[in-house]
Order: sequence, then structure tokens, then C-alpha cells
Amino acid sequence: MNSFSATLARSESLRSDVSARPHRYRILTGERPTGPLHLGHYFGTVAERVRLHNLGVDTVIVLADYQVITDRDAIGAVRRNVYGAVLDYLAAGIDPNKATIFTHSSVPALNQLLLPFLSLVTEAELHRKPTVKAELAASGRALSGLLLTYPVHQAADILFCKGNLVPVGKDNLPHIELTRTIARRFNERYGDVFPEPQALLTASPEVPGLDGRKMSKSYGNAIGLSMTADETAAAIRRTPTDSQRTITFDPEKRPGVSALLTTAALCSGIDEDRLAAGIGAAGAGALKKLTTDAVNDFLAPHRLLRAELASAPDYVREVLRDGNFRANEIAARTLGEVHAAMGTEYL
Ligand code: TRP
Repeated sequence: MNSFSATLARSESLRSDVSARPHRYRILTGERPTGPLHLGHYFGTVAERVRLHNLGVDTVIVLADYQVITDRDAIGAVRRNVYGAVLDYLAAGIDPNKATIFTHSSVPALNQLLLPFLSLVTEAELHRKPTVKAELAASGRALSGLLLTYPVHQAADILFCKGNLVPVGKDNLPHIELTRTIARRFNERYGDVFPEPQALLTASPEVPGLDGRKMSKSYGNAIGLSMTADETAAAIRRTPTDSQRTITFDPEKRPGVSALLTTAALCSGIDEDRLAAGIGAAGAGALKKLTTDAVNDFLAPHRLLRAELASAPDYVREVLRDGNFRANEIAARTLGEVHAAMGTEYL
């Protein structure tokens, strides 16, 4: 059995244990604040995070601002993206009294864990990571030291708060493996400090962008959570479909039509084939209208709440300031344990 199917099998039993005993778990998840969050984020990770946090699982969310510069020079509109993401988390139902939302760059003790952790991995291990290879290829640039080592940084994100559960998509499994390796090697070398976190594979399907490829801001095929209803309609109207009048679900041969059907299915809870049968020979125009309505109906409460929160910027800043304060407390405690274990404590 390969590691993916093994993790999938384990995720099933893990999921039921999390429901039965939520208080034994702390999840750490996060995003790179490279742009506005979109439906891919929502169905891929945010909805699962809200569900786990509602069960009572201690939830820590990193806005990985240092990770923005792994594969590009410019940090971009990072502040706007950070506050935008906080708005989306809150609007999606994350309660800032129960969850800790923080930014990488605000927590020095977390970043300091990178030093001992880097000593626990070899350059060859880092070069082998498929995520590093894929991002290097996509960036079209020389490999930066930060891109090569960011999986170790991600281990620091998870281990600074002793997260023991990491909800991830399939692509990110190698990072969890590396995090477990680092925790194990640290504990072997210096004594028990870190848990070995488990990956919880997210059950939700990959959300297609409007052209049928994976939804991504950089492909220009995303429906942003913060778009207006009109912007959503315009984005959907631009989706390339085909000349076949009867609507059918066939992601291979009809990527545009099928991406619209999947988007409408996720938002309405009605499956693609039923939606397609309902439209029949009414054509792409009817499909676009149906998809636009499904997305706008689904996102209406989120957008309303988001707009209300956006009109209270002091509150949003306070949520992040509180989260950063808590994350610093946690990180200082863990770094203290690391120093004690390593014998680098000078009191
Ligand atoms: N790399 C993740 C992304 O691009 C964000 C991230 C940073 C993360 N640190 C993490 C995810 C730790 C899980 C655990 O979205």
C-alpha cells in the first residue's frame, strides 16, 4: 500500500476519533497570503476547518507571510491579503475566541525553531520533495534557499504549537512526513519534546477552476469569496464552453461545461448529472445562469457577513493582534523546552 492509500485509510478512523474525542487534538493549518481566497480554498480547506473547530478541536491557523517569498521576489499586497483572509475565516464561521489566527512574521520564536530543525535534515532529502520540485518548475526561477527549506519551515509551523493533526490535501502529504521525521529525530537526539503529527486527508474533491484546470488565482479561473454577485456573473459568463447544445457532464471532453456543473453542484448540493439532465438542450447560457445563481445564493450570507466585518477594521486588526499574542506565548514556551532539551539555556 502506498502512503496515499495508507493515509486515506487511516484518515477514516482518525476522523471518527476526532469526532469522539475532539479535545485530544490540536490542528494547525494555514495559507500563503498571495491573493484573495476563492471557492477552491473554501471547499478544499476552510469548510473542513470550520467543521473541526465547531467540534471543539483546538484550531491554530497560520497566515504564512514569509512563505509568500519562497518562489517570487515581490511580496505583493500582503497586508491586504492577510486582512482579507481573516475576514473570510470569520465570515465562514471561525470563532476567534476558539481559534488562534496568526502571521508567521509576528512570531520570532517559531522562526527560530528552523535552526535546530535544519540540522536534522539533509540537502538531498529537501531536493527530493515533490512540492519543492513542482514549485521550482512553476516559478521558472533559480531555486532559492527559502524554497528549498520551506518544508522545514512548515514543520516549525506545525510543531511550534505541538499540532498533532494537520488537515491537508494529497499534495501536501510529503510535508507531514518530513514534519514527523523532524519531530522523531529531535526527540531521539535531545529527548521528548514534540508529538508526531498525523495528516487528515481532506475528503472534499479538488475544485475545478472555470476552465477545468485546478482553481488558482494565478490561472485567472477563480471565483473569489469576496467578489460581488455581478463580478461572479461576469467571470462565469467568460468561461469557455463548447458548441454542443445539450449539457452533459464529461470533465475529459468538456472541461468548461463540466467545471461549471461541478461548481454549481458544490454550491447547491445537487450532483452534476442531475443538474445536467435538468438543463438538457437549453444550452450553455442556461448552464451559466444556473451556476451563477447557485454560487451567488451560496455565497450571499458569507459576503454579507464579510462586508459587515470589513466595515469594522479595528475589530479585524484586534483579532489578528490577539492571535499573534497567543501564538507568541505558545512559541516562547516551546522554544524554552527546546533550549532546555538541547542544553542551551542560560538562566
Ligand atoms: N503551504 C501552505 C499553502 O501554500 C500554507 C502553510 C504554511 C501550511 N504552513 C503550513 C499548511 C503548515 C499546513 C501546515 O497553502
